[in-house]
Amino acid sequence: MATKVKTIRSAHSRPGEKVKVLITRDRIHRRILEIAKQIRQDFPDEPLLLVGVLKGAVFFLSDLARGIPGEVSLDFIAVSSYGKDTKTSGQVRLTKDLDASIEGRTVIVVEDILDTGMTLQYLLRILEQRKPKRLRVAVLLDKPERRLAAVQADYVGFSIPNEFVVGFGLDYAERYRNLQGVGVLSLKAHDKAGKSEN
Ligand code: IMP
Ligand code: MG
Repeated sequence: MATKVKTIRSAHSRPGEKVKVLITRDRIHRRILEIAKQIRQDFPDEPLLLVGVLKGAVFFLSDLARGIPGEVSLDFIAVSSYGKDTKTSGQVRLTKDLDASIEGRTVIVVEDILDTGMTLQYLLRILEQRKPKRLRVAVLLDKPERRLAAVQADYVGFSIPNEFVVGFGLDYAERYRNLQGVGVLSLKAHDKAGKSEN
């Protein structure tokens, strides 16, 4: 099927930056509803606690939470990576903890993207120690080629190629989170290593 590549409105971009649509808002929305349904089918009678990883996961989390019927609660956690070269150092630290205990709860960690897997590996380790009844992972995007840590998501919106993406929560230097869809960012002038925040 031939697909037309659209460039997202230049209003979002700065000179030297270009964003090409990879996944439209409509496709994302449809896929999130499928995942939401799947989650409720997997846990038909259980109250669910969705743990969003700030900040990238907030848009995914808000659509996902509204798509899951029944009892759903939310909590948030934030992490950041040490050093400048965040993608290779693999050192993660907690910058905001959950508000409440997860002991005995059915918890679904909601992340924007599974890249090297270092962030999720760290999060799952600390959350597992708190004795949830079950611990699952939902990610909007997965870049399997980039994986360094042996982690997998239970629910994946889209598997994408090894490209730097922005939009629907994902940022470049804190910008582009508010794009409706997900797009590939290309830069003319400078290197993007270490520019993305969680
Ligand atoms: P990790 O490499 O799996 O630990 O991913 C760490 C974090 O880096 C993700 O949660 C995102 O916040 C960010 N990240 C990874 N890949 C991208 C990307 O392509 N665009 C924007 N942020 C990204
Ligand atoms: Mg993130």
